[in-house]
Amino acid sequence: MSIRVMTVFGTRPEAIKMAPLVLELQRRADIESICCVTAQHREMLDSVLEIFHITPDYDLNIMEPRQTLSTITTKCLLGMEEVLERAKPDLVLVHGDTSTTFAGALAAFYHQIKVGHVEAGLRTWDKYSPWPEEMNRRLVGDIADLHFAPTAANRDNLAREDIRDGVFVTGNTVIDALKTTVREDFHFHTPLLNTLDYRGRKVILVTCHRRENYGAPMAQIMTALRRVAEDFPQVELVYPVHLSPVVREAAQKYLSGHARIHLIDPLDAQEMHNLMDRCYLVMTDSGGLQEEAPALGKPVLVLRRETERPEAVTAGTVKIAGVETETVYRMAAELLESPQAYAAMAHAVNPYGDGQACRRIADAIEFTFGLREGAPEPFGVH
Ligand code: UD1
Ligand code: UDP
Repeated sequence: MSIRVMTVFGTRPEAIKMAPLVLELQRRADIESICCVTAQHREMLDSVLEIFHITPDYDLNIMEPRQTLSTITTKCLLGMEEVLERAKPDLVLVHGDTSTTFAGALAAFYHQIKVGHVEAGLRTWDKYSPWPEEMNRRLVGDIADLHFAPTAANRDNLAREDIRDGVFVTGNTVIDALKTTVREDFHFHTPLLNTLDYRGRKVILVTCHRRENYGAPMAQIMTALRRVAEDFPQVELVYPVHLSPVVREAAQKYLSGHARIHLIDPLDAQEMHNLMDRCYLVMTDSGGLQEEAPALGKPVLVLRRETERPEAVTAGTVKIAGVETETVYRMAAELLESPQAYAAMAHAVNPYGDGQACRRIADAIEFTFGLREGAPEPFGVH
């Protein structure tokens, strides 16, 4: 007997975190793996598909410039209808907290198809931050039948919402991906990244794209970043700018025209992970970077007011810097001026995974459908 498992994803981070799982599902003899992309992102999604050699079976191709939350959700929902009717999967897997995630889960529910939620149980308990992600993941939590929680804390969050059945603690699949991309002898194809002096200079890797940071918070953050570059001559600030026109306009306005601020196009995942491995410090509002950088021993200042990823804060490698110019500047300055403050944060920890998450998720699926005896061992219990 075999089952049909459809993965549905649409943005860059979902793709990076689902790619190793798609490859794992393809390796299982009793699973027929079907891949559907919504293409909520286009170029940033295609770059991941290329690196992991994944050819989707279905592509809804929904992206448009400056798309609204309603257009993404309705286009995904309508597009998924035909796909689900044709493919008839036994299980639909969605990832994380994007509009694709929510619409993919809802579409499967409307067809009475089981839903598995990868990266389940992350919460801030503030429905407007991150927005709309916190509500997307809560709603998917209610819809899903299987919940793949990266950490024990994520499992406990689900329990607070009375979600206790079908929960597996697996680790985050991003660590599985990271294990395949980082290489000591990696050669970048973006020329700037081969010429930077990573030992002699202090390379700060920056990303900033969240919707709740649009407008005043982004202006404040970027003002702080510019001051950091101006006041610390040893700093090289590298910012691969997200393709969102809102973000690109802000980056251009506040950060262009400085010799040591490098505004570059989005990097592919291999380049990004290897740049992170070589940089001095990461400043970001990204979720994924908060998980990856600690595994590589890089301190992270989070350009947000809160985080749904407290594990690395507890481990001491991540700090919340907020979105105000003074605080962001001061916290970056401390890590540039004080070797002690830097050393206290720059140690590798792996609270998010051990590289075995995809194996556990595939095992849990087989177990649920009666294709394997025994549930996988939870991540983090030794
Ligand atoms: C989305 C997710 C967010 C995730 C982020 C990862 C939602 C509501 N938001 O936000 O949770 O953190 O992706 O990056 O699901 N664009 C391109 N080419 C691309 C990708 C984007 O041109 O390959 C431009 C388009 O103009 C698009 C805009 O970026 O309209 C915004 O994309 P969208 O997916 O709506 O929001 P993100 O901010 O990327
Ligand atoms: N990333 C990338 N190139 C970039 C910026 C980010 O490959 O130019 C990767 C990053 O390493 C991580 C993921 O994209 O794996 C995070 O995506 P993003 O920050 O867009 O979304 P979030 O994680 O905040 O939802």
